[in-house]
Amino acid sequence: MTPIESELTQLERIPAQIYNSADDACQTVADAITDLINERNAANKQTVLGLATGSTPVRLYRELIRRHQKEGLSFANVITFNLDEYYGLDGDHPKSYRKFMQDQLFDHVDLKPENTNVPDGLVASEAVFQSCKAYEDAIVAAGGIDIQILGIGRTGHIGFNEPGSGPETLTRLVTLDRLTRRYAARDFLGEANVPRHAITMGVGTILAARKLFLLAWGEGKASIMAKTVEGEQTDTIPATFLQQHENCFFCIDQAAASHLTRKRHPWLVGRIEWTEETTRKAVLWLAQKTAKALLKLVDEDYTENGMSDLLIEQGFAYQININLFNITQHTITGWPGGKPDADDSNRPERATPFPKRSLILSPEPLDDVYCLGGTINRLKQHGNEVTIAYQTSGNLAVADSEVQASIELMIELGKDRSGKADLAYPKTVEQQLKDKGAFGADTAEIRHLKGLIRRSEARSSGRTLGIDTANLQFMDLPFYEEGRYRRFIVTETDVAQMYQLLESVQPHQIFATGYGHDPLSVPALSFEVLRAALKQCADSEWFNDCNIWLYKGPADEWEAHEIDMAVPLSPDEFENKFQGIYQHQTQRSQSPGRAGNKSSNSWDLARDINRGTAEIYDGLGLAEYEAIECFKRYNK
Ligand code: F6R
Repeated sequence: MTPIESELTQLERIPAQIYNSADDACQTVADAITDLINERNAANKQTVLGLATGSTPVRLYRELIRRHQKEGLSFANVITFNLDEYYGLDGDHPKSYRKFMQDQLFDHVDLKPENTNVPDGLVASEAVFQSCKAYEDAIVAAGGIDIQILGIGRTGHIGFNEPGSGPETLTRLVTLDRLTRRYAARDFLGEANVPRHAITMGVGTILAARKLFLLAWGEGKASIMAKTVEGEQTDTIPATFLQQHENCFFCIDQAAASHLTRKRHPWLVGRIEWTEETTRKAVLWLAQKTAKALLKLVDEDYTENGMSDLLIEQGFAYQININLFNITQHTITGWPGGKPDADDSNRPERATPFPKRSLILSPEPLDDVYCLGGTINRLKQHGNEVTIAYQTSGNLAVADSEVQASIELMIELGKDRSGKADLAYPKTVEQQLKDKGAFGADTAEIRHLKGLIRRSEARSSGRTLGIDTANLQFMDLPFYEEGRYRRFIVTETDVAQMYQLLESVQPHQIFATGYGHDPLSVPALSFEVLRAALKQCADSEWFNDCNIWLYKGPADEWEAHEIDMAVPLSPDEFENKFQGIYQHQTQRSQSPGRAGNKSSNSWDLARDINRGTAEIYDGLGLAEYEAIECFKRYNK
């Protein structure tokens, strides 16, 4: 470690290596696993791996499969133990962790089936203790775990060791935290369907492994990551007990690292270069930390918070304050498409051309209205040509009960027309629904119908925002249509479709999301498709005259220093936005949730987020608004 690094990382209690991408991080971990397996194979010894499920390790497993297929990495002498399993699900259940492992790794490498261990989710309640003990014994009998792979939950769980789990805990039956169940709601099409219990290795079992790699991607993990790496050990965040392990490494991407002090408040741990960007970040943080309006910050606030060198460089606090006040004020605009015939030198969006062609990209129906419903409405009212493109159909997020209701409607309709209507289609889908059971994979027809349901909701929502159906584009990108959660793979066909859309709209401004999200999530993959398509448009004339505005996504919001455009909403506009959100009836129970906001459903969360931004601006000493939607400029 260089001296600068050690100064910057002085608060960190677990070595955390930050990578530019999840794939880069996975290479490192795959190398460690490969080296160990090869070494053990050469000595004719077995390797014992501890494995995790969830989104996080999927790319690692893909890389291990690639190495097996292309580079001859053999798992013939590997024994695996998985961290956990939902209680009540058998191994063939589509949502069981056993099935996940079969699909994502076991079926694609030469692991012997008898060498793969996943806790038994079906063990009778009176036999749970024995079964868990047998799992512990099997790990010991195999010689202990050589390398354990971990993800981390937003509650700070490792395995399913939820808050309250101590460092001595062993494999046992646990109750899942409410937030954990909310995050799993999408997999199970509704929180109510998520199992309440799981069998998990304990924190103690995990700590007994010889080497640990914890992986984390995306901003959704940033907050818990910082608490785990820098906080005191506590059973309210069981992952903090990893600090006790001498051979534990965190391999994380930039987004997941973004709340570590060295990234978020680097001036608190060392000298930094005071650029416009770092100054903005630090001063807005200082104002919020001291709960003072920008123009009320005094020299002592700066010196007491690790920023005296900034003061020395720039003179008096008041000079810095005024500068930051102006910068922040200039982010506010009621004209997200630019104000025609106005001086635009201090406005986020340029005055000309006007009207603009504004392209709103929504990974799924709902993201648009949820995150920028007020802005869309404004763009339209100001006379811009607004196109909303839904990148995916979102059909995986529709519960079967919604399909059943639509089928019944179709059948009723048929009857009203005295038998003239063709009932073959609804009857077929109804039968398919019965055949697949609650968690079976949807047939093409079911997915199609689910997609149509979401389209109709998007149309209603669009109307509420003043956008005609003719201006909605349903792209149904193939990566989504042909995949399932955690199994999506972007191909050239997706990019070609996006390229076509861009070239046909030739937008002056694009609103998009997905930047910094979990790389396997729908928004992140949709953004990846956009980025690749934009590259292909680089020579097009419209490209250079196109601004890209990022919205953060449904569960979160930009921090004050990241906001380049803040669009205030009046109480009436804000209410109208919610009328738009309410059109997405099928999504009501599938909230993304957010740590620290346990009681919010998805509806309230959007209110909290937009009102929260308005409160931040108010607190900084700017105008007091009802709500604010905000955007960050993306440099193509
Ligand atoms: C999975 C497991 C969990 C996950 C964690 C993160 O076997 O034990 O601790 O690692 O919930 O989940 P993802 O990766 O889906 O964000």
